[in-house]
Amino acid sequence: MTTGASRAAESGAAESRATGSGATESGAAESRATGSGATESGAAESRGDELRTAEFRAATAEETRTLGARLSALLGPGDLVVLSGPLGAGKTTLVQGLAEGLKVRGPITSPTFVIARVHPSLSGGPALVHVDAYRLGGFVEVDDLDLDASLEESVTVVEWGEGLVEGLSEDRLEVHIERGAEDEERLVRLSGVGPRWSAVSLA
Ligand SMILES: Nc1ncnc2c1ncn2[C@@H]1O[C@H](COP(=O)(O)OP(=O)(O)OP(=O)(O)O)[C@@H](O)[C@H]1O
Ligand SMILES: [Mg+2]
Repeated sequence: MTTGASRAAESGAAESRATGSGATESGAAESRATGSGATESGAAESRGDELRTAEFRAATAEETRTLGARLSALLGPGDLVVLSGPLGAGKTTLVQGLAEGLKVRGPITSPTFVIARVHPSLSGGPALVHVDAYRLGGFVEVDDLDLDASLEESVTVVEWGEGLVEGLSEDRLEVHIERGAEDEERLVRLSGVGPRWSAVSLA
């Protein structure tokens, strides 16, 4: 796919970041796993916590798209989805599935110099705002991107948004994608954060 190829040229920089983010994330994931039982559950019942995380295995890119399409059924206006995972993990591929499920105008790509795109609905539903924060070094105010869309009325998905966009909303769906043991295998972990997701079954 051209999306992967467009980033291939940058592999020098990408490699080091992929390594760095992997190390950081695993630390964060561990503490979060612990924290969700201890800290967060102050408010949420443990049963609620279980519903807020789910893991899937996608054997092919097509399966990742299908997962994205299924996931889109849970999304509505105002929702924020934060995608993380190393370069080439399949974040954009999953967004392609989301776009398909949401019935918005495509195509979903990873343009090198465009930070965000608005994909209007073809069916009267919410638009999809696709942000790629790869090149943004600091905190993102998506409103500053001056998009021709209202985030309250759109589904916003942000690649490489971890650590940057959490302040945008107290509710967000985190999607983390990692490579599995097989060449095309990907492990996709969903975690719902905030009251919006507290009673939603992600499984
Ligand atoms: N199971 C899979 N799920 C997703 N993509 C897969 C899978 N197996 C193979 N691929 C391939 O891996 C590549 C994933 O590229 P994609 O652009 O979606 O990754 P990305 O995480 O968005 O990368 P970037 O960090 O550059 O934004 C595609 O070429 C896709 O065809
Ligand atoms: Mg991408």
